[in-house]
Amino acid sequence: VAGGCLSVILLGASGDLAKKKTFPAIFNLYKQGFLPNDQLQIFGYARSKMTDTELRNRIRGYRDMEDSWILSCSWQVTYISGPYDEESGYIKLSEQIASHENNKCGTTCSTRRLFYLALPPSVYPLVSRMVRKHCMNPHSLVFGVHVTGGWSRVVVEKPFGKDLASSEDLSSELGKLFTEDQLYRIDHYLGKEIVQNLLVMRFANRFFVPLWNRDNIANIQIVFKEDFGTEGRGGYFDEYGIIRDIIQNHLLQVLCLVTMEKPVSLTPEHVRDEKVKVLRAVQPIRDEDVVLGQYEGYKDDPTVPKDSVTPTFASIILHINNERWDGVPFIMKAGKALDSRKAEIRVQFKDVPGDIFKCQKQGRNEFVMRLQPSEAMYMKLTVKQPGLDMKATQSELDLSYQQRYQDVVIPEAYERLILDTIRGDQQHFVRRDELRVAWEIFTPLLHRIDEGKLKAVPYEQGSRGPKEADELLNVRAGYVRTDGYIWIPPSLK
Ligand code: BG6
Repeated sequence: VAGGCLSVILLGASGDLAKKKTFPAIFNLYKQGFLPNDQLQIFGYARSKMTDTELRNRIRGYRDMEDSWILSCSWQVTYISGPYDEESGYIKLSEQIASHENNKCGTTCSTRRLFYLALPPSVYPLVSRMVRKHCMNPHSLVFGVHVTGGWSRVVVEKPFGKDLASSEDLSSELGKLFTEDQLYRIDHYLGKEIVQNLLVMRFANRFFVPLWNRDNIANIQIVFKEDFGTEGRGGYFDEYGIIRDIIQNHLLQVLCLVTMEKPVSLTPEHVRDEKVKVLRAVQPIRDEDVVLGQYEGYKDDPTVPKDSVTPTFASIILHINNERWDGVPFIMKAGKALDSRKAEIRVQFKDVPGDIFKCQKQGRNEFVMRLQPSEAMYMKLTVKQPGLDMKATQSELDLSYQQRYQDVVIPEAYERLILDTIRGDQQHFVRRDELRVAWEIFTPLLHRIDEGKLKAVPYEQGSRGPKEADELLNVRAGYVRTDGYIWIPPSLK
């Protein structure tokens, strides 16, 4: 990335998100030469008392952080401990950033400050106010033109509120402090390789252009499954539940890219305009289109209240009222403690009219985009079974990334998004109006759940989730399960 001095300021540096996602992403970018390595300084700020070395060891202790290269840059990590609600800490932080900038760039160079808020939601507004007051880059105007090419950008992580009203409160608070082009609302699903491929797949292939509509598509599923429970995050999770944790953000973002119209161009505002437009066409959610579940044993977590009714599983059918999608059910399914870990988009096509192979068929055509694990895209087709008999069978055209792109390392979502922030590209970040519509869609349902009007049914850990969800899928969404065929990722063959 061209430019001058770069300070990455990680607020909440002693937390889990910083350790598992943000620091590794920054170091990986550093390692690949995407950062101005000799002009970079990383500042960690949090309440815990720690020395620079203790923070470095904490980061180094995490999984894939190989010592050899992390050692080479970990001296560039400075830790500042301070309370979130006292000015003194931020003044100290600001002095340290300025001193780094003076040492590395003097006064002539453009300087860049990236603030990453990896914090509990309760302290967001407070920390944002402090950052705005004490730590913004004097080499850029806070509201207005970047005079010297310097900038301050602020990355914020979900949860962005708990419903429409609280999210709007947070948005207006942040809106008073930062301009929309300084704010990067991260949804890390937008940084995943297959999600980034969606627009290319849909709009650069003649195969898909004429088929991608209600005339040909029977239903679309967007699925997130984890084969583990809340794992120590029960306290946070219980307040939010699976719809706020996964569906309202990650899966809805994927839905936008699957269903939006072609943007005029790839400029961020054109793409985000189309996302907002399709979200506005999503119909209110009906109770009969929802199945909620809670896995047995969820309440054994000491951080979860014994009488919790929070759903850890949800399957919801959405409808989009526009010319392209009228009548097509979109099934958004997410759950914890299920039988496997995967995230995928499954597009099921309608039956062939007047089908002469009907009685031999195993299932419908499907186009599957597997986000994780083992990124892949495959099309389930009916073909002739090789041999002397004229027999139809289900097979696939398979683009499995591990096989096709053997020398390519697929970047972590956070790496890509942090790099986008440094480059000033907001395409893969959530705009304020987009966030608002996302909450408008789910808030009435969430309130009905919070008022106890919809109940979660128990399901066994390690299962497919409540059987009612399969009924919803088959009966209300018209999904036709393929008989006797399973796609096996090449890594397992
Ligand atoms: C987070 C959720 O946003 O996404 C977690 O809070 C979930 O509950 C995680 O485990 C899943 O992310 P990924 O990238 O592992 O699919």
